[in-house]
Amino acid sequence: MKVFINKIIPERGYRMLEEAGIAYTVWKEKPILDRGQAIQFCKGHDAFLSAGQAGLDADFFEQCKHLKVVALHSVGFDGVDIEAATARGIPVGNTPNVLNKATAETALLLMLTVARRALYHHKRIKKGEWGIAKPTEGLGFDLAGKTLGIVGLGRIGAELAAICTRSWGMKILYHNRSSNKRAEEAYGATKVSFDELLEQSDVVSVHTALTEETRGMFGMEQFKKMKSSAIFINTARGGVHQEEELIAALDQKIIWGAGIDVTNPEPMEANNPLLDMDNAVVFPHIGSATKETRDEMTRCAVENIIAGLKGKEIPYPVNP
Ligand code: DGY
Repeated sequence: MKVFINKIIPERGYRMLEEAGIAYTVWKEKPILDRGQAIQFCKGHDAFLSAGQAGLDADFFEQCKHLKVVALHSVGFDGVDIEAATARGIPVGNTPNVLNKATAETALLLMLTVARRALYHHKRIKKGEWGIAKPTEGLGFDLAGKTLGIVGLGRIGAELAAICTRSWGMKILYHNRSSNKRAEEAYGATKVSFDELLEQSDVVSVHTALTEETRGMFGMEQFKKMKSSAIFINTARGGVHQEEELIAALDQKIIWGAGIDVTNPEPMEANNPLLDMDNAVVFPHIGSATKETRDEMTRCAVENIIAGLKGKEIPYPVNP
């Protein structure tokens, strides 16, 4: 039994595999593998642990139909043809729940950084522009008591609602297909239409999966519906917002600011205009990038591999 791992993972993962008597090959080089190379490696292995491998489409699953399991080192599985895997009897697993807090914290970090203009002030010092502080200059705004609109109130959105209600007494609006009764009871969250959420929120935070329905759901039309004093936050998937329109909305001060941890495409080019804007903050998809969270993600992924290779039901499946 051999598993192919396409990137270096935390030590815990190797120990778990060794204890289970499973051999592994790890691709440790830079640059990362292209799809064709990943297929070649998978052909010589029984399972694939994939950290963000692009191109897991129907052709991939056809060429690798011998695989007993594919374990994603992520909770998101957009871009993976689950139907094609299922049709070939290949279980695909993800890492649910373990990154909820880290991702909610990332959204919070972006909210605070944008609301308090933290990067702008940091850059000001570097440019020798600290000068004499004036009471009316460089002001941000309080989050306390403001309205947070959550688009996709699932597990990560609920973590963010917990922090924002308990610490800042923020009011929570949300837009989902189905109601989240637990969040309504626990955080006083109110389900509203998408337009109502856009119009009434001081911060709009995206926590939805990328699907055909959510792709590009934030464009100029939606930014225009937001308050001109509002912040847009996206820690979900870059494909949910239209980047050119976000840049225009920030440039024309249609919205007050934006903080994004996800871009489209990833990685973002170093000359992207968002990186030079005083009202934008961009992180390089670090939502789950804490030691504790990556360790737990590895545990889930390796548990999926071990179960799949033993012919058991995997603990965190995404196949229907
Ligand atoms: C996920 O797990 O889907 C996060 O976006 C981190 O990649």
